[in-house]
Amino acid sequence: MAAMDANSSYDRMKELKEFDESKMGVKGLSDSGITSIPRFFVHPPETLSDFKNSSSTCTNIPIIDLSGIINSKDADHRLKIVEQVKEAAKTWGFFQVINHGVPISVLDETIHAIKAFHDQPHEVKAKYYKRENELGGVMYTSNNDLYRAKSAAWHDSLQAWMGPEPLKVADLPEICRNEVVAWDKSAKEVAETVMELLCEGLGLEAGKFKELTFLDARVLVGHCYPYCPQPDLTVGITSHTDPGVITVLLQNHVPGLQVKHGNEWVNVKPLPGGLIINAGDFLQIISNGEYKSVQHRVLANSSKEARISIVIFFNLAKWKGDGYHGPLPELLSPEKPAIYRNFTRQEFFENFYSKGIDTKSLIEKIKIKN
Ligand code: OGA
Ligand code: NI
Repeated sequence: MAAMDANSSYDRMKELKEFDESKMGVKGLSDSGITSIPRFFVHPPETLSDFKNSSSTCTNIPIIDLSGIINSKDADHRLKIVEQVKEAAKTWGFFQVINHGVPISVLDETIHAIKAFHDQPHEVKAKYYKRENELGGVMYTSNNDLYRAKSAAWHDSLQAWMGPEPLKVADLPEICRNEVVAWDKSAKEVAETVMELLCEGLGLEAGKFKELTFLDARVLVGHCYPYCPQPDLTVGITSHTDPGVITVLLQNHVPGLQVKHGNEWVNVKPLPGGLIINAGDFLQIISNGEYKSVQHRVLANSSKEARISIVIFFNLAKWKGDGYHGPLPELLSPEKPAIYRNFTRQEFFENFYSKGIDTKSLIEKIKIKN
């Protein structure tokens, strides 16, 4: 038995390495015209049967109209929007904003530019292909957690650390350089508005998150989910929660994103002009459990057209002088004691990089058990 295990894991490692070293990504596999996917992409039956249980109902994540917030001082209206954001962040952990002030042309140009990057021949993209955990710079890869995850997923990604150290713009691939820079600026403005609303929902000063530098440490990831010839055997992205404070997600018209709500997986229908916002683990922790970081995943793409999504993760930049983070003291009282203990930067990174994205998050580890 042991020999067989050793043998099959040896084969798997060899195949993973061959795929990784080819630098062709899943886009390259898809373009090559394969009709069956390499076996290291095949997920176990438990995961696959869960995908068959996706919700077919018409529920959708909340849609929040930000017109009347941008450039307006109508306090009553603002209170209503704060309530909507608070409710969505508490019960869904996910919502979609419309009339956020970013022109549709900017959204379209960003999607086109990221698509154009992924559409290049793989020899051109190969010079950006890396697999390292360093924080900073630009990298293109297939499956961040390729060697850590139990099964691989059907997507490739271009990642750029936009802050806190300013990115060297020349490091960005020319084909999407201007668009990535412009999108980062626009998405940061939307994030600032949303963070203000989230702060007000917690009874904090609107500018509190900005003051805590939550807008500074940003990673932009341009995902490509190409056509998958066997979409029932694999996934686009494995179910996970995002580690940061909030994530801003821009997607094209090809569906696939699903959000866990109660026991159901809800399809997020692409909404032209909409931006998806979700709470990450840090937000759940610093809000002392008020806002929820919710599981989400992406189906393997069965459409001939690639699904493109561009996410920006807003993380904790500065760590407190004494080296730890936890629930914001302003939110704690004898009636509302901390439900999470403080954690260190090292604990966060060890947790994040020790495993595939699907396993238990930091939140479970630092929960105070009574
Ligand atoms: C992620 C993520 C979803 C998507 O990158 O963390 O959840 O639609 N992406 O690409
Ligand atoms: Ni995510």
